Amino acid sequence: MDTTSNALSRILHLLSQHPAVQDKLRAEITEACGGEDLAYDELVKLPYLEAVCRETLRLYAPVQFINRS
Ligand code: HEM
Repeated sequence: MDTTSNALSRILHLLSQHPAVQDKLRAEITEACGGEDLAYDELVKLPYLEAVCRETLRLYAPVQFINRS
């Protein structure tokens, strides 16, 4: 299903269409990492990044339904 690559592609596409959001997200990440690699525990604390991921998944869910038998 390529769920992760689809979600990442949608995020990048939406950010390219919404440069103000991209700028705000870049600022949040830049401030958090301060030029160093960002540890996972720090990455998951970023609220705007979280919001961008969640909103993209809301608008373009990589999996919309699952058939079970
Ligand atoms: C946006 C990203 C992702 C989405 C939307 C997504 C979505 C899903 C969905 C809908 C299922 C089926 C769940 C079910 O059968 O009820 C699933 C299963 C699974 N996903 Fe993901 N996934 C994502 C990312 C990942 C990543 C990054 C990994 C691993 C690093 C992963 C590993 C798995 C595995 C192992 C299963 C099978 C679980 C099982 O057999 O019950 N997924 N995923």
